This record gives sequence, structure tokens and C-alpha cells, in this order.
Amino acid sequence: MQPKLMTGLRVKRTRVKTAKGRIASSTRWISRQLHDPFVLEAKKQGYRARSAFKIIELDEMFHLFSRGKKVVDLGAAPGGWSQVIAKLTCSPKENPTVVALDILPMKPIDGVKVLTMDFMTSEAPKRLKEAAGGAVDVVVSDMAANTTGTPSLDHLRIMNLVEEAFWFATEILKDGGAFVAKVFQGGTEAKLLAEMKKHFKTVKHAKPAASRKESPEEYVVALGFKRP
Ligand SMILES: C[S@@+](CC[C@H](N)C(=O)[O-])C[C@H]1O[C@@H](n2cnc3c(N)ncnc32)[C@H](O)[C@@H]1O
Repeated sequence: MQPKLMTGLRVKRTRVKTAKGRIASSTRWISRQLHDPFVLEAKKQGYRARSAFKIIELDEMFHLFSRGKKVVDLGAAPGGWSQVIAKLTCSPKENPTVVALDILPMKPIDGVKVLTMDFMTSEAPKRLKEAAGGAVDVVVSDMAANTTGTPSLDHLRIMNLVEEAFWFATEILKDGGAFVAKVFQGGTEAKLLAEMKKHFKTVKHAKPAASRKESPEEYVVALGFKRP
């Protein structure tokens, strides 16, 4: 499904060459950035990352955000998702209702409280709960560890992050709340999926158009949180 705002985009092709005229992997990356309609549109609309369009599309599909909703955004840097979420929830500048966390530093965003820390540390859940000031409506996680080149290991690492994010969500979500997390294709592990189904009314998987076809990522979207 193409996000509405991407309809009709045309991209002028520009050839990028290395000094020797060969296409090296770094030049391939630059070339891809130059030709990627989502990169161009993100720049035009002032988003820090093309990934902003992934959360826009997930919101169009699942109606996750609206004015006043409280949200925790895990793995938030450089801030594309946080920008979108702060806008859609009309999070106030003075008393933000969106909390973003990343291990990497992130430039401030109006309406977003930023925590710079590793989510996998034991103090992260407590710090997030303090920053959110109570239960929240949505927990989103775009966290991804750097890939190692070994697909099975990468899968394990991302699933570890998803699992921790899920258990954290069960501690902080209001009844009826939603949880969205990046997983690898093949979906969520059966055991975790079963846990999710116990805690949420519906659990689905989605791959937004802005998620590169060649990337194995997709998103698990769990709606209607209920304490078992
Ligand atoms: C794909 S990027 C997120 C992009 C972001 N959603 C946006 O729109 O700008 C994944 C992020 O997960 C973060 N991350 C990975 N492991 C983490 C951890 N253990 N704790 C906190 N952040 C982590 C990385 O630092 C990286 O910034």
C-alpha cells in the first residue's frame, strides 16, 4: 500500500560513480538515497528519516495516534517516528506526552522528552515510566541492533529487543492500548506471538511501502491491550 502523501512522486535518476567509475557499496548507498522517493519526500517535509513514512502508513492502517495520546517511542534516533507521533498526538512543547529513548543521542524535538540510554539496561523501564508519568496509550519500537551479516544471529538479536519491548509494554500500557515493533520477516516467534495474543485483542503483521523490499523487516501491530 502506498502512503497517500507519496502518490505520484517522480524521481529524476542521477548516476553516482566512484573515482574509478565503479559502483562501490558506499556509492550504491548514495545512489539509493538520491533516487529514493521516501528520502526526497522526508527532506521536503522536514522529517529526519525516511522511516517517518513507515509510521505514517502504520497509523493510516491501524489508527494508532490521535490528539492527547501518550506514547513511548523505543529506538527513536534520529527522530523520524517521534516527529510524526508528536504531530499526530499534538504533544505539547511544555509538557510532552511523547517519550523517546535511544542509545544514541538525538537532537531535541518539540513535544518529545528524550532519554539517551540503552533500553536493555535494568534501569531503562523505571526511567521510561518516570518520564511518561503513568500509563500510556501506545508503545512503539523501531529498535534494531547493527546487523552482523549472520542472518540467524541478527534475527536472535532483534527478537531479544522485541521481547523486552513487549514485556515493557505490558507493564506500562493502559487497557485498550497498542504495541508496534519491528521484527524480521517470518514474523514474530511463535512463543512470543502466543504471549501477545494473550495480552491483545488482535495481533497482525504489516510491511509498509517505505520499508525497503530487500529488507527483511516488517512490523508486528498488537491492538486492544488487556491484562490476562
Ligand atoms: C532504525 S533506527 C530507528 C529510526 C527511528 N524510528 C526514526 O524514525 O528516526 C533503530 C534505532 O534503534 C536503536 N537501538 C538499537 N538497540 C538499542 C538499545 N538496546 N537501546 C536503545 N536504542 C537502541 C539504534 O541506536 C537506532 O537508532
